[in-house]
Parts: sequence; structure tokens; C-alpha cells
Amino acid sequence: MSLLELKGLSVTYAGNVPAVRGVDLSVAPGEVLGIAGESGCGKSTITSAVLRLLPKSAKVGGQVLLDGEDVYGMSFGRLRAMRWAEASIVFQGALHSLNAVQTIGKQIAEPILLHEKVSRQAAERRVGELLEQVGLPARRAKDYPHQLSGGQRQRVMIALALACRPRLVIADEPTTALDVMVQAQVLDLLSGLVRELGLALIMISHDLSVLGAVCDRVAVMYAGQIVEEGPAKDIFDDSRHPYSAALAGAFPRVGDELFRYAPRGLPGDPPYPSDLPSGCAFHPRCPVALDRCAETEVSLADLGEGRSSACLRACEEDLDLRGAS
Ligand SMILES: Nc1ncnc2c1ncn2[C@@H]1O[C@H](COP(=O)(O)OP(=O)(O)OP(=O)(O)O)[C@@H](O)[C@H]1O
Ligand code: SF4
Ligand SMILES: [Mg+2]
Repeated sequence: MSLLELKGLSVTYAGNVPAVRGVDLSVAPGEVLGIAGESGCGKSTITSAVLRLLPKSAKVGGQVLLDGEDVYGMSFGRLRAMRWAEASIVFQGALHSLNAVQTIGKQIAEPILLHEKVSRQAAERRVGELLEQVGLPARRAKDYPHQLSGGQRQRVMIALALACRPRLVIADEPTTALDVMVQAQVLDLLSGLVRELGLALIMISHDLSVLGAVCDRVAVMYAGQIVEEGPAKDIFDDSRHPYSAALAGAFPRVGDELFRYAPRGLPGDPPYPSDLPSGCAFHPRCPVALDRCAETEVSLADLGEGRSSACLRACEEDLDLRGAS
């Protein structure tokens, strides 16, 4: 049974900006779902929509079900209880969002004291446990953010997200600001916690190689829609959408000799949501587009074996979806 289910989720920001358009997604306990896509594709908008953190002026359509309960039908009190205690977010750019003049111990204890009726000593004990869970000694609770490295601060953000034992964690670009070694450690840590605690984790990144390393399934977004979804390995090794193929090709993999000589870029940028191309929104950049791609609405179609793609050519055998490279 899914812990989180998005059914036809759409978000339109003020000024008629359709940032998310009809997204269906689900994630089960113990599962890691990745969401990939270039800047502006709607990834963070989905994150905010799940916890009802969007600006009031944004129009939300469809449903967000957390353990079967409609998040948009919750009272404000129920919503407050749900945030942190049932679902929490490691925000994009979180490295800068710790309070510089408060110890990290105090910052992690705050949601515990707010949500769980426990004594200060019990909260402090839990802070120590959380720090150890993310690989930091409990004594670091006394440190201020500036006394920690970037990777250590990111661990603190993960400890914060876990503070009230949520069952769903959404990590929005949790490793973008980190160097490759620390990035690998943080990703190992997150996937280890999923196994240990049976969490459902949604990991958001523009980097498919990051998602390939930790996710069970990956959904690729373009212009506010999911254009491909399937087991992480398949999305990487056998993309069924030219956009996923381009993303997979854009990041080098260790030992990939070919990449050294022919890195495959994707020309241009994704469209702004209020200025979407007709037909398949990817057609102006697609290396294998046909004339009819500009005229035909394309929606996500089931390809079997847990895979789906929104490409008219997804089922063509022997088609190099990266185009000539
Ligand atoms: N408050 C807002 N008002 C109007 N438009 C917005 C607002 N927030 C985001 N957008 C627009 O919605 C689109 C999706 O933004 P979002 O932040 O979800 O993208 P993203 O995929 O997370 O990108 P990134 O990888 O850069 O974080 C963008 O075109 C952005 O300009
Ligand atoms: S539908 Fe056409 S334009 Fe869109 S991804 Fe497929 S081939 Fe490219
Ligand atoms: Mg974002």
C-alpha cells in the first residue's frame, strides 16, 4: 500500500503559470523514489504541494493522499501535526537555512519539544541519538552551524528531518552543494536510513547518476509533467524517452570510456510554464522529433514491467533516443 499518492496533481501559480500538470505518483514504505529533471521542471513545486506549503495564490488540482488521507482536506491543526511527525522535507539550499546563532542541538530539539510531549532531557537524549544516526558524535549538539563542514551541516539537516520519526521524507537536491565524496556519503546515509527505519523517501535531483545510485524507481519530469517512470536501472540504461536518455547521457559514469570522448549535451533550455510549445512540450529540443510531435498531445503510456513513457516513439525498437551523437 502506498504511503503517499499523488493523483492528477496540478499546480498553477498566479499569473497563469502551470508549473505542475497532472502528475500521478506513489511511494511505499521502504521505497526510494527519485524525481529528476532540469531546473524549472516543477520538482520543488511538487515538494511544496505535498506539505501544503505553496503560496495562497497558487491553484492546486487533483489529490495528495498521505496514508489515504487527503492532505488538502485536513484541518490546520491536523496539517501541523502531520508536518514533521508524518512527513518532512530536507529543503533545497538547506545548508544556509540553519540558524547561525543557535546550537544545532537546540535546533533539532525544537520540533521534538513542539510535537512530542517530552521533557527537555528526553529531547536532548533524542538529539544525541539522531546525531549518531547520521554519523555525527552526540557532543556536536553543542556546536553552532559555522563550526561544521558543509557535509556535516547536511547531516544535521537530515537529523532535523528525522527528528519526529516521520514515515515520509522528501529530500530536495540534498547533495547539490557537496563535493563528490561527501555527496556519496550523504546518499549512502539516506538509503541506509530507509532500510533501517522503513521510511518512504523521495529524492529530488537534476542529476540522474545521483538518483541511479540510491533509488528503486525514478520519475523524470519535463515542463511540469512526468515523461518517463520506471525502475531506476532501466531509466539509466534503457531510457524510453529522449529526454531521460539525454539526462542519463549528460552525466559521466565511472569507467564509461565513451563519455570521455563524446559527452552528450542537450541544446537549449526547458520552456517557461506559461509559454509551453504545442504537442509534445519536448519537441523543440528533441533529437528524434517527427513532424506530428508538434501537433499531437502526448500522455504517459504504460509500457509494461512497471515502466511508462510519454513519447510517441517509445515503443520503436532499435531507435537511438539520444539521436545521432
Ligand atoms: N511562487 C512562484 N510563483 C510563480 N512561479 C513560480 C513560483 N515558484 C516557482 N515558479 C515557477 O514554476 C516553475 C517550476 O519551479 P520549481 O521550483 O518547481 O522547479 P524545480 O524543478 O524545482 O527547479 P530547480 O531544479 O531549479 O530547483 C518554474 O518555471 C518557476 O519559475
Ligand atoms: S513525442 Fe516526439 S518530440 Fe516528444 S519525445 Fe517523443 S519523439 Fe521527441
Ligand atoms: Mg527545485
